[in-house]
Amino acid sequence: MRKQIAAANWKMNLTISQGADLLDAIIAKPHSLTENQQAVFAVPSPYLAMAQAKVAGKKNVFIAAQNCYSKKSGAYTGEVSVEMLQSLGISVVVLGHSERREYFNESNQFLADKVNICLEYNITPIFCCGEALAIREAGTQNDYVAKQLEESLFHLSAEQLQKLVIAYEPIWAIGTGKTASSEQAQEMHAHLRAVLASKYGDAVAANISILYGGSVKGSNAKELFSQPDVDGGLVGGASLNADEFVTIINSLKA
Ligand code: 13P
Repeated sequence: MRKQIAAANWKMNLTISQGADLLDAIIAKPHSLTENQQAVFAVPSPYLAMAQAKVAGKKNVFIAAQNCYSKKSGAYTGEVSVEMLQSLGISVVVLGHSERREYFNESNQFLADKVNICLEYNITPIFCCGEALAIREAGTQNDYVAKQLEESLFHLSAEQLQKLVIAYEPIWAIGTGKTASSEQAQEMHAHLRAVLASKYGDAVAANISILYGGSVKGSNAKELFSQPDVDGGLVGGASLNADEFVTIINSLKA
């Protein structure tokens, strides 16, 4: 059975003491994760060790990096390698967020290289895809996201693919307060699963968690997560508020 996941993406926000207080507040609030549910916190790189120490021993709670580099080591000033993440005990990394694609020119091919190195080091990528408003308005979003998956993931074996989590984040819904309707989210998630099934078969596709991201909050999480192909969320703004994020965790399907 695929995992239901509430993933926080703090992006480039908070000082280390604010981040520590936020994690403390969320951990202190009542929420019980079932065997099938996970909470993930993608924190800024300088906070990974702090955050990892805070969740040590907490079942089904993981700290994630927001990015990593595609090379093992070397003269790449400012970059973070998967080996560094592994040495901190980090086992999840967000890859291909639309902000990285847009502001740092990350291409589908470059992301394929990052996916490969993560899998080599046993790190789970949360692989993001999603279309801009102009693509949605032109009605070509299904082909666009299919191409993102094909070019970054379709070289993987079925066994490798099953280690990934996919996040669908329509760019027009990120930080805009505009959420995809639960019908729009379900329609796209079913499409993504069908794209994966066309290459890897139904059983493999059914095993992959597909998260929705884009203005998820406490008030809409339950409705979005209740859709059959929506397996939780990747949450920006609302993940910076303890009450909101705990409500989002508590909205996961069992
Ligand atoms: P918001 O939840 O702020 O819209 O951000 C979504 C996102 O980009 C999560 O990765």
